[in-house]
Amino acid sequence: MKGEIYKDYRIIEHQYDVVVVGAGGAGLRATLGMAEKGLKTACVTKVFPTRSHTVAAQGGISAALGNMGEDDWRYHMYDTVKGSDWLGDQDAIEYLCREAIPAIIELEHYGMPFSRTKEGKIYQRSLGGMTAHYGKVPAQRACAAADRTGHAMLHTLYQQALKHQAEFFIEYFALDLMMVEGECRGVVAWDLAEGTMHVFRSQMVVLATGGYGRAYFSATSAHTCTGDGNGMVARAGLPLQDMEFVQFHPTGIYGSGCLITEGVRGEGGFLTNANGERFMERYAPNAKDLASRDVVSRSMLIEIREGRGVGPLKDHVYLHLEHLGSDIIFDRLPTIAESAQTFAGVDVTKAPIPVIPTVHYNMGGIPTNYYGEVVTLKEGNPDYVVSGLMALGEAGCVSVHGANRLGSNSLLDLIVFGRAAANRCAEILTPHGHVAEVPKAVIMTILDRFDQIRHANGEIPTAKLRDKMQRAMQKDVAVFRTKETLKEGLESVKDAYLAFKNIKVFDRSLIWNSDLVETLELANLLACSMTTVASAYNRQESRGAHAREDFPLRDDVTWMKHTLAWVNSEGDVKIDYRPVHTYTLTDEIAYIPPEERSY
Ligand code: FUM
Repeated sequence: MKGEIYKDYRIIEHQYDVVVVGAGGAGLRATLGMAEKGLKTACVTKVFPTRSHTVAAQGGISAALGNMGEDDWRYHMYDTVKGSDWLGDQDAIEYLCREAIPAIIELEHYGMPFSRTKEGKIYQRSLGGMTAHYGKVPAQRACAAADRTGHAMLHTLYQQALKHQAEFFIEYFALDLMMVEGECRGVVAWDLAEGTMHVFRSQMVVLATGGYGRAYFSATSAHTCTGDGNGMVARAGLPLQDMEFVQFHPTGIYGSGCLITEGVRGEGGFLTNANGERFMERYAPNAKDLASRDVVSRSMLIEIREGRGVGPLKDHVYLHLEHLGSDIIFDRLPTIAESAQTFAGVDVTKAPIPVIPTVHYNMGGIPTNYYGEVVTLKEGNPDYVVSGLMALGEAGCVSVHGANRLGSNSLLDLIVFGRAAANRCAEILTPHGHVAEVPKAVIMTILDRFDQIRHANGEIPTAKLRDKMQRAMQKDVAVFRTKETLKEGLESVKDAYLAFKNIKVFDRSLIWNSDLVETLELANLLACSMTTVASAYNRQESRGAHAREDFPLRDDVTWMKHTLAWVNSEGDVKIDYRPVHTYTLTDEIAYIPPEERSY
């Protein structure tokens, strides 16, 4: 094996037009698109592609196909803007909803095994907040492959990426971006199997590293969801956007946090409290159990707080689907029947599932425009494009989900903006074109940080510090927040952030070292946690998933703006803001002005 040696690291160099980091839905869609356009494309991923967290997506992928009733992309746009509580950028939302239709047809042509109607069309179900005629009647918009939509999608995309000869670097952990004079020139990654270091120089780096659900103690997210792209961006001195908006999915299984799809309620399931009441009728008289997630999660917690929870501790509620019958359950919801049995010991044909709101999705992330290009606030320009860097999917904040995401808009976001990024790269990059040099010092700085963490010999084991951070986030940056809880959270998370300097790594090996991987992941999670709690502390209003009990109303005059948060090595967070895009791309739909949000 060739390669220069630095300290005890063997460095292998690579050159690509595009390097995509992450192989979930967004990473794979971008990878296949770039390769299809003739760009020399590498995909670097810490897990095997079909094990990426997209595999866990259940309910569906939204598009106004109208297969199960009247629909229109403009209705989809209205629902998404309302779901976002008017924090979403309307140019990007128009793009998402309009492009949803060709993007789904393309997936179908790629071979995605969607469930079918009797006529052979793609089956679509209702999820929260879906309506036709601008809020007037319910709509069925989530295109589903039973309750395994993400699984079907990942396999389809991986096959397509291989077909187009994209090159995969599997079980490589991306360490840091190579930034030179404000532009990104590539990424350095560690090969977990061989122990070698890989310098990927490229015209473009695309971060598609997913969310950071594991900043919390209980999440539907896989243990791999550690905000690695967000951490790299924060270390590069760039801001993270709207981090205060963390989605709690109403139906995580009580105790394990495992996801029970909203599709259960879409198929006719409902929630009850200790009195057997369908309490959502009181909170959302029209949409009931299919109100948006922030509304349903808050309603559940109010029921529990007011003493109407179920179980010995009265600390959860029930989700019923017994009445749907075995045929529907095993045809459309086979996975959740299995999960309920495994994680709650419940036979869903006979008994309700105990559920509790559980961390599920990060609306915030790396700010981008609707091409996927990373933007920052620079010299008064809030849309300044960072050269050579893109971000997609849950790692990015484009922002189509604003303050609250609608179910099934996430899979859609991956596909639409993965495709948009590939189209953009085809426009602005030259296939097999010039790739800029990177000064050696930039690479050495990245390896020095790695080396320092690898040899860290402080007093706090990684698992212990992670636990401290996760418990603080769970307790203080929860569904309901106040100045007091957030202040406490800010102090505890900052303590954890600074305590990383005193971390202890037990295993110094360079091969299959999970202790070191988890420590690097913890550094990324800490950057995410720090910016989340500081952004939440600063936003003095309630909007979407950010529910401040001390500021219960939405305040469009002061707060209809995106938070930007920069964190430095001392855990100090600088906050600034950039405006929400209040314009559309075409005259086929006008800007949707803010209105009172009820379901
Ligand atoms: O409930 C669900 O199936 C989750 C879907 C989503 O987060 O988009």
